[in-house]
Amino acid sequence: MDIKTLENIDINLASISKINEVDFENLTFGNTFTDHMLICDYENGVWQKPVIQPYAPFTIDPSAKVFHYGQAIFEGMKAYKDERDDVWLFRPDQNFERFNKSATRMAMPEVPEDVFMGGLKRLLEIEKNWVKKGNGNSLYIRPFMIATGKGVVAAPAVFYRFMIILSPAKSYYSGEVKVLIAEHFSRAANGGIGAAKAAGNYSAQFYPTKLANEKGYQQIIWTDDATHTKLEEAGTMNVFFRINDTLYTAPTSERILDGITRKSIIELAKRENINVDVRPVLVDELIDAAKNGTLKEIFGAGTAAVINPIVGFSYKEDYFELPKIEKSFALDLKEKLTNIQYKVAEDTFGWTVKI
Ligand code: COI
Repeated sequence: MDIKTLENIDINLASISKINEVDFENLTFGNTFTDHMLICDYENGVWQKPVIQPYAPFTIDPSAKVFHYGQAIFEGMKAYKDERDDVWLFRPDQNFERFNKSATRMAMPEVPEDVFMGGLKRLLEIEKNWVKKGNGNSLYIRPFMIATGKGVVAAPAVFYRFMIILSPAKSYYSGEVKVLIAEHFSRAANGGIGAAKAAGNYSAQFYPTKLANEKGYQQIIWTDDATHTKLEEAGTMNVFFRINDTLYTAPTSERILDGITRKSIIELAKRENINVDVRPVLVDELIDAAKNGTLKEIFGAGTAAVINPIVGFSYKEDYFELPKIEKSFALDLKEKLTNIQYKVAEDTFGWTVKI
C-alpha cells in the first residue's frame, strides 16, 4: 500500500518545538504529545479543508453531543523508525477500515481516506523527529472523532471534528500483569457497540477495573454478558491462551474488537507452525487446564500493549499463577512481530507501510 500525501491542507507550524524538554527514556504512556495535531471539521454534510496546527486545547459548545451522549470513536496505531531513519506504519489500512466501521455504528460520517491516511502522512512528516529508533520506542497515533454539534436532543449531531494527535511511547504496562476474570460486569452485549472502538466501551470498564485494581489486578478478562462462561477480551487488548502447545483465542463478534495485533499474531503463529484454534474458550476449561498443568501461558495483544504476558489470574475465590515457561510463545511471537514492525526482519506479509 502506498499512502498519498494530502496536498489540500493548511499547515500552521509551531514557532518552537517542545521536543528538547521530553525525557524519551522515561515516558508514561499517553501523557506527552508532539508539537502539532491535525483537525478536520465536518459541517452540514461536508468535510472541510484539514489543518495541521500547534497542539493546544480548543473550545467546544457545552451542549455538544460528545459531552452528553458520548458520540466519540478512536483508533490506536503506531509509527516506528528503522535504522535508516525511515518511518513505518503497521497495517494502517486496517485501522482506517475499522475507524469507518466504528463511525457507521455510532451514526457518524465516514472520514475520507485522503484525510485519514494522507493527513496522517503529512503530520508524521512534520513530526518525524519524535519517532525514536530502537525496539520498544514508537510514536503512538491517536486518530479520533467527536460530535461537536450543539443541542441536547438525543439524536446524531450534524457537526463533527476528526483529529489526530501523536504521543511518543514506550511500554503500556510498567510491571507484571495479573487479571481478574469477570463474574458479573460485562464489556459488551450482542447488538451493542462492542465491536466498535467507541469511547464508551472503554469508560464503561473504568469502574469494574478500578475495583480489580484495588484487589491488585491490572486488567479484567471479560466474559460473555449472557452466561459469563466464555472468555472474551481484556480492557486494552485481546487475549490468547496457550493450553499444551495450542493457542486459543475467542472469535471476533459483535462483542469483541477485531484487533489488528490479534489477527497478525494468528497469522504469525500459523506461519511458525503453532496450532491456533479460534473458538470460544470457556472459563471452566481454563480453570481445569490451570489445575491439571496444561495451561502454559496467557497473554494480551493490542497496539498499545503489543504482546503482554499475564502472570496469573483470579476467578471467584481462587488465584492461579502461570508457570515460568522456557520457550514462551508470547515472547517469541512478540520478537517476531516487533522485528517486522521495526524492519529488522523481512516483512513477508506486506504489513508495513513507509511514510
Ligand atoms: C490500543 O491498543 O491502541 C488501544 O486503543 C487500547 C487503548 C485502551 C490504549
